[in-house]
Amino acid sequence: MTAVTAPWWREGVVHEVYVRSFSDGTGDGVGDLPGLRARLPYLRDLGVDAIWVTPFYPSADHDAGYDVIDHRAVDPRLGTLDDLDAVVADAHALGLRVMVDLVLNHVSSEHPWFRAAAEAGPGSAERARFHVRPGRDGGALPPTGWPSIFGGSAWEPFGDGEWYLHLFDVHQPDLNHDHPDVRADAERTLRFWLDRGVDGVRFDAAGGLTKDPAYPELPDGWQPGHASPYSDLDGVHDHYRRFAKVLSEYDGDRVGVAEVWGEPHVIGPYVRPDELQQAFAIDPLFRPLDATLWRRLLAEQLDAVVRHGRLPAWAHGNHDVKRAATRWGEDGARAVLLLMLALPGCVYLYAGDELALPEVDLPDEAITDPTYRRSGGTDRGRDGARVPLPWTTGPAPYGFAPDGTPTWLPQPDGWGTHAVERQEADPDSMLALTRRAIRLRDELWRGAGDEVTWLESLPAGWLGFRRGAATCVTRFGAGPDPDLGGLGEVLLTGGASDGSATWWLRGDRPGTTTDEEAGWDRR
Ligand code: NOJ
Repeated sequence: MTAVTAPWWREGVVHEVYVRSFSDGTGDGVGDLPGLRARLPYLRDLGVDAIWVTPFYPSADHDAGYDVIDHRAVDPRLGTLDDLDAVVADAHALGLRVMVDLVLNHVSSEHPWFRAAAEAGPGSAERARFHVRPGRDGGALPPTGWPSIFGGSAWEPFGDGEWYLHLFDVHQPDLNHDHPDVRADAERTLRFWLDRGVDGVRFDAAGGLTKDPAYPELPDGWQPGHASPYSDLDGVHDHYRRFAKVLSEYDGDRVGVAEVWGEPHVIGPYVRPDELQQAFAIDPLFRPLDATLWRRLLAEQLDAVVRHGRLPAWAHGNHDVKRAATRWGEDGARAVLLLMLALPGCVYLYAGDELALPEVDLPDEAITDPTYRRSGGTDRGRDGARVPLPWTTGPAPYGFAPDGTPTWLPQPDGWGTHAVERQEADPDSMLALTRRAIRLRDELWRGAGDEVTWLESLPAGWLGFRRGAATCVTRFGAGPDPDLGGLGEVLLTGGASDGSATWWLRGDRPGTTTDEEAGWDRR
């Protein structure tokens, strides 16, 4: 009999390396591929299965690399193609997989196609590769009232009566994926990186590739997050069917993950059997730590993908949201980490959250995120979650770059208190907990199937479930520690005694311990 092993990604742990802020190997204050390569042993020691490397392609840097000038090259400031190959080869030698981030929804306004479109004039073939419409009122007003996700209008005038669509910054024109050149180019890009041996792909802004060709107005009362004519339309799934076919042509367990922000019913269709392997479960990131709410959220996320034979891709954090330790408090970040690692599925951890780095309140003049400018300063943007990592206790740049190098986003005073060096020496640190949890997860939870048996009669404010021969119990917020003895032997705890916490227990009588036996108060 041949043993069937699940692909690594099904219940893997992926570390998001925000490449500009991870490690600077060249001494210009910006993280890069040589810097990442030198730190791969740290990631191996963390115990993750894979890294997702954020964009390293030539960029005009209007959105920290998500405005791409050439999808099949490396920005010289971040390294070379040889450096990328070396990262992949070294990672593989260390047992790590590498995922890259493909930004197919839009390009940089400095991409040759867009430069040509700007020059070619109204009605030109060059403009057909983008979403270009005549303005209203003889060209004076945007074609529709669609808002940019970064603030302001989603349309920008060419100055000749036509306007182009940019769902993000004005320097990120949206590509028209109904155009054959655009489709062919996207597929070429996908193959280019798969041919170089990458193990997976994150599809940036995945829901945006199809727009309603009638460009209808948004309904009255529309709010961000509601259904729109430019996200998650039925037609977008044709693209993921094509990309999934390409992925399937390659050997090994390659994975495609859709970056989608919707509720479970919106993300489920992206993981149908002929589409991608994963779609992010991001929604919980925005939710307060409330046991009843989380029980529902988690169950809905599971249901939305398990019905297609897939498991969730839980996001514990990412570079677009506040740092977990600030969003949930450090106790909450620890408790949720253990909760997510115990659930069926793959967990995506954001680099620096294993150090419990807090969100940094940067000085106004240091902020680079376009959302800050486009919101007129009312939204301070996402740079506070992107401050370069502290590796050593000090002084600045704390081992991120050679001594004395100013970093692209300034590190605050005292950043060294969170340093890897310090946390490696502290058995109670977030880093130590993360390492222990990832290892123990393999033993306790990996391969335990997609079934979660919720413990139904926990006290208010508690959430618990059994999977396989182990039990995970989370207390949301402060409260008395119950007697967990009846549920099994406590193997790991993450959180705080006066805050949220999660316990992992090995049940010595799997499936037979009742809540009464465990000594829970029924409510
Ligand atoms: C999602 C990325 O995570 C974010 O950082 C970026 O600004 C947008 N997509 C646009 O590419």
